Amino acid sequence: MKELIDKLCLQGMTDSDDVKKIIDEINDEDMEYLAKKAREISQKRFGKKIYLRGLIEISSFCKNDCYYCGIRRGNGKAERYRLSKEDILECCKEGYRLGFKTFVMQGGEDSFYNDDVMADIVSEIRKRFPECAITLSLGEKSYESYKRLFDAGADRYLLRHETANEEHYKKLHPAEMSLENRKRCLYDLKEIGYQVGCGIMVGSPYQTTDDLTEDLKFMLELQPHMIGIGPFVKHKDTPFADKESGSVRKTLILLSIIRILFPRVLLPATTALGTMDPKGREKGILAGANVLMPNLSPVKVRKKYALYDNKICTGEESAQCKGCLQKRIESIGYEIVSERGDY
Ligand code: 5AD
Ligand code: FES
Repeated sequence: MKELIDKLCLQGMTDSDDVKKIIDEINDEDMEYLAKKAREISQKRFGKKIYLRGLIEISSFCKNDCYYCGIRRGNGKAERYRLSKEDILECCKEGYRLGFKTFVMQGGEDSFYNDDVMADIVSEIRKRFPECAITLSLGEKSYESYKRLFDAGADRYLLRHETANEEHYKKLHPAEMSLENRKRCLYDLKEIGYQVGCGIMVGSPYQTTDDLTEDLKFMLELQPHMIGIGPFVKHKDTPFADKESGSVRKTLILLSIIRILFPRVLLPATTALGTMDPKGREKGILAGANVLMPNLSPVKVRKKYALYDNKICTGEESAQCKGCLQKRIESIGYEIVSERGDY
């Protein structure tokens, strides 16, 4: 196993069977060896710096019906809300006060935020916080819409591909959604000039190890600037309510493999990882992650942006999360920095 890990570090993913073996057969001792390699690579580029992205969850309305997601349109029990431009600017102001240099506006695919509305919000943030990065995570759009938002001042876009395998994609999404369009979006975003993030849920229903190696191959082809991965966490009011959630262990293995294959990529230890294990985010950083995405949403809406069950940080103020993360990160010998953290 150590030889396979050394080969991965020296030659990259030359044989997907090797990577499959690592994912499926690694024991705890070799997992530590893998994590150590990943940490070294991360520290060579980034030192022990951890970048922060303030997540503003702007809308829980969504026109899509992804089987895994708690805010899917078919979930009649989901509480819906929208943040106004003023709400969003207030979140940015608080984030800026706390030292955030990146604001991530994420939401369901909600036609209320059409290009006019969104371009207006983006350009206002650009004007008020000129040195901050603006990241959008608002789902699939046309080339023209992405371009318009880029021209308004957005710098980065997060759109997880969810799975790079056609059959698996169909098991996670209704027929009106397609992997082809998802990939088209990611390539459009790159062409326009965004820093782009793709990603997956580890342990999503029906995911095989072959699917995971296909995901890695797709990532190698796309060459994203950011990769978001976290465990699948079931949500009680979705078609996947009775499926198993993904494991922290497998997520950590994948974080390390991704860090080894993508030395410069910005790689968050996600909230989903923190939800599945109280020390999940710390473990993620020790496995090679270098980004945290604390919640900057107004506390009054946090519980309503429930993509999955038992999400953490839904009762805390933004300042509490910042302080909490600061302590957690210092406890493992890393440091939170107030920098944009561009690719
Ligand atoms: N568990 C974990 N992650 C989820 N996401 C959506 N639903 C869940 C879930 N049940 C992830 C998807 C999406 C991102 C915003 O959140 O990967 O792209
Ligand atoms: Fe939100 Fe710890 S990060 S409470």
